[in-house]
Formats: sequence, C-alpha cells, structure tokens
Amino acid sequence: MKKPILGVIFDLDGVIVSTDNCHYLAWKKMADEEGIPFDRTINERLRGVSRMESLSIILEKATREYSDAEKEAMAARKNGYYVELIGSLTPGDMLPGAMDTLQMLKKKGIRIAIGSSSRNTPIILRQIQLDNAFDAVADGNAITRSKPDPEVFLLAAKLLGLPAENCLVVEDADAGVEAALAGGMRVLGVGGAAQNPKATFAAASLEKADFNTILN
Ligand code: BG6
Ligand code: MG
Repeated sequence: MKKPILGVIFDLDGVIVSTDNCHYLAWKKMADEEGIPFDRTINERLRGVSRMESLSIILEKATREYSDAEKEAMAARKNGYYVELIGSLTPGDMLPGAMDTLQMLKKKGIRIAIGSSSRNTPIILRQIQLDNAFDAVADGNAITRSKPDPEVFLLAAKLLGLPAENCLVVEDADAGVEAALAGGMRVLGVGGAAQNPKATFAAASLEKADFNTILN
C-alpha cells in the first residue's frame, strides 16, 4: 500500500532559491584567473554536486595538474567570491511557488526540511528570511558523502523523525533524484530534473506542481 507523504525535503539551490548565477559567476572568476576554460554548459554539470567535486569537473579542462593544497585554495577563493555574491540575495530571489508551497504544506500539517549539499545553506536561508521556516535543516556541513549518495536526505528524514517511505524529496538536479531514490524516497523533479524519467513526479517549477495529486 502507498505510504502517505508526511514530510517534504527540499533541495535549496534551484528549488527554493535561484543561486545558479552566483555559483556561475564565482567559478567563472576563479577559472578566468587560472586561465581554465569554463562556461555555462560546464556550469550545468555542477548542479547538486559538492564544492570539491565541482572543482574536479572544472579542472578537466585545465592544462596542468594542481596539488591538493592548490585545489583547496581555489575552492576557498571561489567560495569567497560566492559568499560575497549571495550577500545580495533577498526574499525576492525565491523561486516561483516556493513560498506558497511551504505555507500550503504547513497548513496541512506536513513537516518540511531542507536537504542541500551546500555548506552555505545557513547564510542563504538567512538572506531569504527562511532561517526559521523549516522543521529540520540537513546541509553540506553535516554530511560526508554528497549526492547521489542519499546521506543528506536520510539525515533530513531522521531530523524530521520520519521513515524515508513517508518523505517526498523536491530536486532540480539529476544527482539529487538519484540520491532520493537511493534513500527509498519519492521525488518530485523540478527545473532540469523535470525531464528525468526516474523522478516519481515532475513539474516545471514548484508553482506548476500538482500537490493535490502528489499528496493523495
Ligand atoms: C548545491 C549546488 O546545492 O551546493 C552546487 O547545486 C554546489 O552547485 C553545492 O556546488 C555546494 O555548495 P557550496 O555552497 O557548499 O559551495
Ligand atoms: Mg539544486
């Protein structure tokens, strides 16, 4: 029998808030300084992927090897640029339908959580004034294995006090869809992940999602 959805775990970047361009601009500045080719097509591959794994993807185009210390320094430099950019985020950067969806779920008594690979989750939630909106937050600071490993979503479910089978994940990245399914959760693919045939449900954005069908 189908288990009821009692908790919804949201990815942050690309689901609740639009940070894509900030990530792109910060990596682009770092890559330009190093003379490494980087464009928006490569940037698409960084969706849902951790900071160091993102750097590894960018370094596929590098013409020399970088030591671990150099890689740490490059990732830290990118993060410095990124943190400066997200300092300008406001609640207006929330994606269409995000706020209404959170309010609708709360009204129904469904518990809500964040499950994000980003170690900047606390800063972003503060900027968009959602730092007290969620029943649980699992982020890149609390995990050791990033998506497609289910660790972040399993932690979010645990913090919500719910079994995986009672949770729905909302994701915009294919790595996140894989992670949710690997954790035994259903998944609503939005944005880029709406095209993923493995997603249990799909919608162009949270605004377009049919929660009457999803929750029944
Ligand atoms: C994910 C983003 O949410 O967080 C990725 O989709 C990003 O693009 C990852 O690399 C890690 O983010 P941060 O903020 O810890 O560098
Ligand atoms: Mg995302």
